[in-house]
Amino acid sequence: MTVLPIILVAASLVLAQAPTDPPSNQTGRLPALGWNTWNAYGCNINESKVLAAANQFVSLGLKNAGYEYINIDDCWSVISGRDSSGRIVPDPTKFPNGISGVASQVHALGLKIGIYSDAGTNTCAGFPGSLGHEVTDATTFASWGIDYLKYDNCNVPNNWTDSSSPPGGDWYNSNSAIRYRQMAAALAHISHPIQLDICIWGLADVWTWGARVGHSWRMLGDASPTWSYIMNIIKVNVAHLDAVDFFGHNDMDMMEIGNGDLSIQEERTHFAAWAFFKSPILLGTDLSQLTSEEIGIITNKELLAFSQDTIIGTPAMPFIAFPGAPTTSPPEYYAGASSKGIHVFIINTSSSTASKNFALSNVPGLGTSGNFKIHDMWSSSDLSGIFSANSSFTVDVQAHDTVAYLITRA
Ligand code: GAL
Repeated sequence: MTVLPIILVAASLVLAQAPTDPPSNQTGRLPALGWNTWNAYGCNINESKVLAAANQFVSLGLKNAGYEYINIDDCWSVISGRDSSGRIVPDPTKFPNGISGVASQVHALGLKIGIYSDAGTNTCAGFPGSLGHEVTDATTFASWGIDYLKYDNCNVPNNWTDSSSPPGGDWYNSNSAIRYRQMAAALAHISHPIQLDICIWGLADVWTWGARVGHSWRMLGDASPTWSYIMNIIKVNVAHLDAVDFFGHNDMDMMEIGNGDLSIQEERTHFAAWAFFKSPILLGTDLSQLTSEEIGIITNKELLAFSQDTIIGTPAMPFIAFPGAPTTSPPEYYAGASSKGIHVFIINTSSSTASKNFALSNVPGLGTSGNFKIHDMWSSSDLSGIFSANSSFTVDVQAHDTVAYLITRA
């Protein structure tokens, strides 16, 4: 036998052994709604900050609006290593009652709790990672009552990376995907369903295999509270909207509403886009600092209902607003169906107020005859008038703002 066949046989043995367990169908059917420590606090986390967010979910009406997950990100464990049984140890200073102590208090509020680990030797901040410890860690997380795992992609040993496209472009069988498949298999063998977010920053063509391994997958590197991030992630995401349906969601990263100096219009676009693309919506700020206008945005019932529709799992998609309309990057006009009707979302990507218009007959799914009424999802009110299928609709949209409509037959 020459060297090449030996390598091929060895490679196929690894593939044959790589687990193929699908993600749980007991969780993750709809995009997650919740909160995560990272954008708000980075590594500076502790039990009281996590419990404060959980209590604010109740007091600010977020729980009533459907927000459910309280997720602990990086830096929650003892950095020096595992205990004598090989388990990751919660930092006793930050979490004096352990993660299980936080979990039981979060559960007592009727909420769910998430944790963070990494498909490498260490997390991005250098804490113990789960590669090679998947069964131990999944079992530990389950014993603490964890409901959601964000699984990151730092500190990957060389033999577990992918320097080029795998044979046949089959990224499901890449080293990257197999690292995540190992954790998916470990989660599949515990009785408690744990939602899995694949935090792989849009690498390894994750949208082609994410739904076979987890419930959501990051499409890009880390968010920032900037308009340029919002534009950039929308551009990336629109190329892969076919991947999104029940149980599988492109993750546009955690929310920045309340952070930096996003304008209220930019915050509306941020929220609307995450909702109409059916990304997880994980708030990422100190909730006590939100203004009532910001709370109004993140609890908007109609946008949340589009995100959480139980009948239609697909996101809104770009459409051509009228015959011959110019194309822009990212697109400005989106349409999608919900169980209530057809929706149109228009983002004004320019930095001044602009007049936007679309022909009703160009809206996919609306039909080309009859009359319609148009309902503003932000203000929850019908626009005056009846709009015929062969009419055009025009609206002035403020700089960087997004309008959101439900269109139904009159
Ligand atoms: C990054 C990840 C962030 C955050 C951070 C923690 O890789 O994309 O969302 O989890 O690690 O160190």
